[in-house]
Amino acid sequence: MAATARSVLKVSRTPFARSLVSSSRFSTTAAKNTNLKERLAQLIPAELENVKAVRAEHGKKSFGPVLVDQLYGGMRGLPALIWDGSVLDAEEGIRFRGKTIPECQALLPKAPGGQEPLPEGLFWLLVTGEIPTQEQVTELSKDWAARSALPEFVEELLDRCPPTLHPMSQFSLAVTALNHDSAFAKAYQDGISKKEYWGPVFEDCMDLIAKLPNIAGRIYRNVFGKGKLPSIDASKDYSHNLATLLGFGDNEAFVELMRLYITIHSDHEGGNVSAHTGKLVGSALSDPFLAFAASLNGLAGPLHGLANQEVLLWLRKMQSQIGENATDEAVKEYVWATLKGGQVVPGYGHAVLRKTDPRYTAQREFALKHMPDDPLFKLVGQIYNIVPDILLEAGKAKNPWPNVDAHSGALLTHYGLTQMQFYTVLFGVSRAFGVAAQLIWDRALGAPLERPKSYSTAAIDKMFKGKQ
Ligand SMILES: CC(C)(COP(=O)(O)OP(=O)(O)OC[C@H]1O[C@@H](n2cnc3c(N)ncnc32)[C@H](O)[C@@H]1OP(=O)(O)O)[C@@H](O)C(=O)NCCC(=O)NCCS
Repeated sequence: MAATARSVLKVSRTPFARSLVSSSRFSTTAAKNTNLKERLAQLIPAELENVKAVRAEHGKKSFGPVLVDQLYGGMRGLPALIWDGSVLDAEEGIRFRGKTIPECQALLPKAPGGQEPLPEGLFWLLVTGEIPTQEQVTELSKDWAARSALPEFVEELLDRCPPTLHPMSQFSLAVTALNHDSAFAKAYQDGISKKEYWGPVFEDCMDLIAKLPNIAGRIYRNVFGKGKLPSIDASKDYSHNLATLLGFGDNEAFVELMRLYITIHSDHEGGNVSAHTGKLVGSALSDPFLAFAASLNGLAGPLHGLANQEVLLWLRKMQSQIGENATDEAVKEYVWATLKGGQVVPGYGHAVLRKTDPRYTAQREFALKHMPDDPLFKLVGQIYNIVPDILLEAGKAKNPWPNVDAHSGALLTHYGLTQMQFYTVLFGVSRAFGVAAQLIWDRALGAPLERPKSYSTAAIDKMFKGKQ
């Protein structure tokens, strides 16, 4: 067994495999003159070898015992998935392919005159582990613009939704309906070989990301009566187009916010509800539209993405009860009342993080730069000085610090995007980047159907009764 493992390892450590490992971790500029699909095609054979070698060397090693408590406790901390785009450290926060948010802000290409990273570059990084060139990012902007149109029946579907249907439900409906034109679903019906899955999945993922601004813009305008949707401008970047479709394209600071927002919400390793759901559904070989619609349904829950809506509702309720310039004492009382009412403080706590979320910090820095005197921003800061101590005193939450959702609503509100029911849609646009990158790699590496084992309480009781 060991000999076999060693020989596989030896074969796999070709210069090509090594170059993938090093390029993923250390390269700052992607191979020039290739587009994303070509670059992927170059990377896949070496990564297949790499995974084979890792499995041969470590496949039988254990992460340690699984506790019965983990089965009842939402699988917290259970090592169960491979996710390559990002890794979340409890203390440090997220790294996208090994890079922190400030590193991404420094290294990824920017728009002319802009300071925030272009999400196009982040997607390239998530998929390849490499920093793209400015030209490669521009090509992606153009490619996405060219793919951005929605089928007419999807437009009609959205137009027929009652404005009372939550924007996330509309979003999920529209993404599900895009499966009508899935390249992967068609190729599968036509009998494509397993080895070729990643190609049409890549095309679907590119189409998916490209069409999201038109879906989000249409929902926003329909639900909030904002008039006719303008068209996508192929000479502009993705975030600029998204901002334009929402009606804020003339505000350069809002466009910059969208670039930052999409970058930092894109991926948060694989175990969170939206990421894991996308991977799970994709493992059944459901196409990327179906898989990502499932992600969106998970993101729509108040303990996950909907928390950004909940934060604003909670803040507004606070202001209506204790006034706009409330004292710390009044805010404390309101926070305690929330907890005593058996509710969570939205925007605080995290299943993995044990420190202030660097995505919160990135947004705070943006606010300090662009809107330091905004009253809602000041309230968010005031709450940051109050809530952690209260959560610690209450003694239940393992992490008393703010997460990404504690801040985003204040930024959007500042620029006039005040409709909080829409906020999770923007999170969803961004989350597509992370889920799509993993779906492509899952199909390229032949990831199998997910099928963990479940147990009944009676079975657990029988299994462990009388044992220490
Ligand atoms: C994110 C969240 C769901 C993580 O859940 P978790 O991993 O189970 O968190 P913990 O292990 O710290 O939970 C232990 C207890 O503290 C409570 N707790 C955690 N965060 C809390 C918060 N912000 N306010 C009040 N109570 C909280 C939990 O509800 C749980 O209570 P219980 O024992 O009565 O069930 C949780 O912190 C939360 O509900 N936060 C508010 C919603 C939010 O901001 N979600 C977005 C996350 S990015």
